[in-house]
Amino acid sequence: MKTIKKIDSLRKELYLYVKKRIGLVPTMGYLHNGHLSLIDQSIKENDISVVSVFVNPYQFGPNEDFNVYPRDMERDLKLLEERGVDILFSPDSKEMYPENFSTFVEVEKLSKALCGKSRPTHFRGVCTVVLKLFNIVNPNNVYFGAKDAQQAVIIKRMKEDLNLDINIRVMPIVRDEDGLALSSRNRYLSKREREAALLMPEALKKVNILINNGVFDANEIRKKIVGELKKSKYIKIDYVEVVNLKTLKSVEIIDKENALVAAAIKVGETRLIDNFILGEI
Ligand code: PAF
Repeated sequence: MKTIKKIDSLRKELYLYVKKRIGLVPTMGYLHNGHLSLIDQSIKENDISVVSVFVNPYQFGPNEDFNVYPRDMERDLKLLEERGVDILFSPDSKEMYPENFSTFVEVEKLSKALCGKSRPTHFRGVCTVVLKLFNIVNPNNVYFGAKDAQQAVIIKRMKEDLNLDINIRVMPIVRDEDGLALSSRNRYLSKREREAALLMPEALKKVNILINNGVFDANEIRKKIVGELKKSKYIKIDYVEVVNLKTLKSVEIIDKENALVAAAIKVGETRLIDNFILGEI
């Protein structure tokens, strides 16, 4: 595996693979099995797989966890080598955002829904870095996890709106044995907090069964999830929403082919999200 930190060097390296299929897995590092599932898929579907590790400052709000976001490059390197990744791109902030950087990408409306309500600049930061990575790597396929369903919906919108000739692949959520969706932030949780956090996947599982049994009233589903989450004093609910998968607008009646049931909570200081998707992003 080649580790490359400079954009020019990465471009030069990629010139060698002009006629090859290139897969890109953008990450912020501190890799877990969710990332590894994306990487495995990229290796399966492409000739060359590039993984980026970059903790993108612009997607963190002023009071968020940018400074303490978990980082372990040594461990990431080992995992990427073992997996058979071809190129690791790990630029520093100055490389990605040189002095006077001032161009941002904003996908309107979709970025204001769900997580956008409490993280107003988050998706602007995500779209900006993702489009930069697309332009630098010029990949055929790019891999994202369904845990960040809103991110995937927004990136697909950006692809359509800006006519990007890239295939966006959204892969299923990977969970720990206890059901918690894998996230680099899970490491912040104490034992007690983790127990509380499990109420979220459990609630989603329960309502998924209700929907499969014909309960399509979105308000009833929402109330059921809220009720389950309120069982723990450690949980602060950010949102529980049932939305249309394309517009991210709230729905009253659930369409089994086109809905997203999503929740965001804070457990102690840790913000966690989870969801299930009905249909395809
Ligand atoms: O999903 C993530 O880890 C990040 O939002 C991404 C896509 C790597 C952009 O920084």
